Amino acid sequence: MAVLIERREAVAIVTVSRPEALNALNSETNQGILDAAVELARDEAIRAVVLTGDGDKSFVAGADIAQMSTMTAEQARRFSLLGRDMCAAIERAPQPWIAAVNGYALGGGCELALACDIRFAAESAKFGQPEITLGITPGFGGTQRLPRNVGVGWAKYLCLSGRPIRAEEALRIGLVQAVYPKDELMPQALKLAEELAAKSRLTLSYVKAQVGRALDLDIDAGHEAERNLFALCFASADQKEGMDAFLNKRKPQFKGE
Ligand code: CAA
Repeated sequence: MAVLIERREAVAIVTVSRPEALNALNSETNQGILDAAVELARDEAIRAVVLTGDGDKSFVAGADIAQMSTMTAEQARRFSLLGRDMCAAIERAPQPWIAAVNGYALGGGCELALACDIRFAAESAKFGQPEITLGITPGFGGTQRLPRNVGVGWAKYLCLSGRPIRAEEALRIGLVQAVYPKDELMPQALKLAEELAAKSRLTLSYVKAQVGRALDLDIDAGHEAERNLFALCFASADQKEGMDAFLNKRKPQFKGE
């Protein structure tokens, strides 16, 4: 099994596990991550997901170069479509996904991390889009998600040069939200996941979807969609619970209803 799912109460840990290839993504692994995202999306008991790579050297060292080396153009298109579906399944999942980037996040690995909602990195992590050094372009959404996360200048720098950057640089440009010593990475990612899991499942999914499409909507349509979601919250039991808990100085118990 190249993709493992571990459930810890309301949090799931998804681990990409192909240590012999630094967790590189072949078709089976892409399909495994896609299946995991779909399975977890249907599981109402899971309210946050942490995605990481097996071992302490690599998150995901890119798409599998051995598999890609013999592909025809049509096979490459299908491989890219599977990568798109994998990333889309994470983006469409109702739960927040946190990437715990524990080492190399190169090419498809950086693109996979970008499909997650929040990225934490180990100090030893390295990010980059080295496709150009292989004579190809990014294929799992890097040219689109990178500019949306770090701006066009950094996206062009990374994709044109193929140079990797360290975790601290990734933090500075906004590619990751926090950097931790290696041993603290998973505890910190799990702490955030547990914190998110205690919130309303409904409002988490609303915020994820709305912020996720913010840069693709014109500003008036974006504000209107936000207003509609805001109003919809007032039809939920979770809104009543959240506000009643605040006013009565107690912790809310959200039911996702
Ligand atoms: N695909 C297939 N196998 C890979 C791989 C990849 N992306 N990355 C590493 N491996 C394999 C190596 O071939 C090696 O296998 P063997 O032991 O059988 O020789 C094993 O993993 C360990 O790797 P290294 O010996 O190279 O380890 P290292 O510590 O010397 O170097 C590294 C680590 C810098 C990450 C180096 O492995 C590397 O440069 N990997 C390729 C990174 C890359 O170019 N990624 C982008 C791929 S293209 C892409 O992702 C397209 C897309 O957008 C969809």
